[in-house]
Amino acid sequence: MESGTRLLLYSLSEYRELVFQLFDVAGARSVVEVGAEAGEFTRDLAAWANAHGGKITCVEPHPTEQVRAWALDPAVRLVEGRSPAALAGLEPADAYLLDGDHNYATVRGELEAIDRACFAEGRDAVVLLHDVGWPCARRDLYYDPAELAPEGVHPHAFDSGVVPGDPGVVEGGFRGEGAFAVALREGGPRNGVLTAVEDFLTGRPQLGFFTSPLVFGLGVLFRRDAPWAARAEAVIRPYAQLPLLERVEENRIALYLRVLEEQDRRAADAAALEVERERRLEAEARLAELESSLSHRVADGVQSLKERLAPRGTLRRHVCDLALAAVKAGNPVPREHRGG
Ligand SMILES: C[S@@+](CC[C@H](N)C(=O)[O-])C[C@H]1O[C@@H](n2cnc3c(N)ncnc32)[C@H](O)[C@@H]1O
Repeated sequence: MESGTRLLLYSLSEYRELVFQLFDVAGARSVVEVGAEAGEFTRDLAAWANAHGGKITCVEPHPTEQVRAWALDPAVRLVEGRSPAALAGLEPADAYLLDGDHNYATVRGELEAIDRACFAEGRDAVVLLHDVGWPCARRDLYYDPAELAPEGVHPHAFDSGVVPGDPGVVEGGFRGEGAFAVALREGGPRNGVLTAVEDFLTGRPQLGFFTSPLVFGLGVLFRRDAPWAARAEAVIRPYAQLPLLERVEENRIALYLRVLEEQDRRAADAAALEVERERRLEAEARLAELESSLSHRVADGVQSLKERLAPRGTLRRHVCDLALAAVKAGNPVPREHRGG
């Protein structure tokens, strides 16, 4: 494996060719990126904007230093805030990349905001949504559940994980390591990114929605009567729901979960070894204490015996001296020298 190869592809930037082709066919110039994380895609978007006279508005509540650095580019504007509320204050854009908080309430709110700004006003836009596949399709994830209205938040846990085929949660599995929480149950109403898109599309037959299963799933949404709709569909078609691509994605996730299991097993083994090492060090320290107190007591005993025997002759005194020397040197007293 090439060093630096990622174990897990997860960034929307993996779709960069498709994204930029869609920008081209839709004639997009203004782009809103929701959710920048480390700014990996923001960097590519900034380069695209500079080459095409475009503008990127990046909405991110916790921008990293790297994202702030990309935002120094005159083609990039950073809005340090939370979508969907932050979208209300923005000019309508030609393209939206939705990859922020992956839950029903947020995504539904984002789509409604884009609808108000664009579709309902007869303005075309292309909307790309990341994480329309497992695990977020039918299960909410929350970066900051406390920031959402309580009725939009399912019971959730930050320290649990999920595995395909299990609607509950597990110890281990795919999880956020504290960065995000998972809803305790998969499925049911108002749960998950894909559910949010489907509910939004209900009663809006003028909007077309296309998906690709790869890298946690990408959704693309635009008006079917946009002048470029047919060309956009042609761009998406090679990435769309081919059974083979679905199997590749399932396999990728299964393999990654095996890697996580192995990492978890090694971490548990390392923790058990550490406990064992600490126990051994403690036992060795206790043993050393015992040895030292025992040799002092034996030395004291021999000394007092020597004093008691002093009047009984040089030979016995000599035996005691030998015994005392042996104890001090840490040697056992030879049987033939032990006094009788
Ligand atoms: C999955 S990461 C984005 C990855 C990035 N788009 C990429 O492809 O490399 C999600 C990001 O969304 C941000 N986020 C969480 N809630 C958000 C919200 N309500 N609005 C905007 N961004 C949000 C998180 O801080 C995190 O940086």
